[in-house]
Amino acid sequence: MEVIIVPNAQEGSDVAARLVARQVREKPDSVLGLATGGTPCKLYQLLARMHRSDHLDFSRVTTFNLDEYLGLDPAHPASYHRYMEENFFSQVNIARGHIHIPDGLAGDVAAHCVAYERMIRDAGGIDLQILGLGSDGHLGFNEPGSSLASRTRIKTLTERTRCDNARFFTNPCDVPHHVITMGLGTIMESRMCLLLAFGSGKAQAVAASVEGPVTASVPGSLLQFHTRAKVILDAEAASLLARAAYYQWVYKNKPEWQTDL
Ligand code: F6R
Repeated sequence: MEVIIVPNAQEGSDVAARLVARQVREKPDSVLGLATGGTPCKLYQLLARMHRSDHLDFSRVTTFNLDEYLGLDPAHPASYHRYMEENFFSQVNIARGHIHIPDGLAGDVAAHCVAYERMIRDAGGIDLQILGLGSDGHLGFNEPGSSLASRTRIKTLTERTRCDNARFFTNPCDVPHHVITMGLGTIMESRMCLLLAFGSGKAQAVAASVEGPVTASVPGSLLQFHTRAKVILDAEAASLLARAAYYQWVYKNKPEWQTDL
């Protein structure tokens, strides 16, 4: 796990955008795993800008989103379909047929989840998975207690997550209880994971994920088992890390042969 601490969310998003851009330039038909929520908004803006001004080409890229609320129409203002359309897909030249987001209106949810897993496999697996972190340590919508081997399925949100996400809904009571989410096992099969966390509200979950024991009680901690996970934090999100100074020294003093950003 590489921990990258930068002063603010803008710089963190910048580091993340450079990593995603490099992935897409090196492998134009990359499969990207995408997250929604407040955290990756700036990252999507930066990627859209790179598309416009630096010819970053998404035409051969395939995407799989982590999750969607169960029961929300794609046109609902708080749906992740709508979020992705507004924040990213409408801004770049991605092929419509290459976009995959769990269907919150699927009739047979279990079959839909199996098909989603199959589509990820058939696409060759996810090259780079973008992740945010819940204030309770969730990854995707894998809430604390989720099986560490889980696959795409229905999950029930905790009250804490429903409260955190109420800001996206006109009426807080409308936050759905149920979601479809990629599983932790699905996420762990991505060839690279990029976890972003910004703000003091994430500090506890970050410390537990990065320096605590690996436990289903903190799904983010599972990334300690990933061979290529980068955690990009602003100063506030990193504020409870015991080894913050060490991570910063390592990042600033990377030897030349280490080509990673
Ligand atoms: C969203 C997702 C969630 C969020 C997390 C943090 O697709 O999978 O895990 O990344 O809830 O949300 P924000 O970024 O809004 O703090």
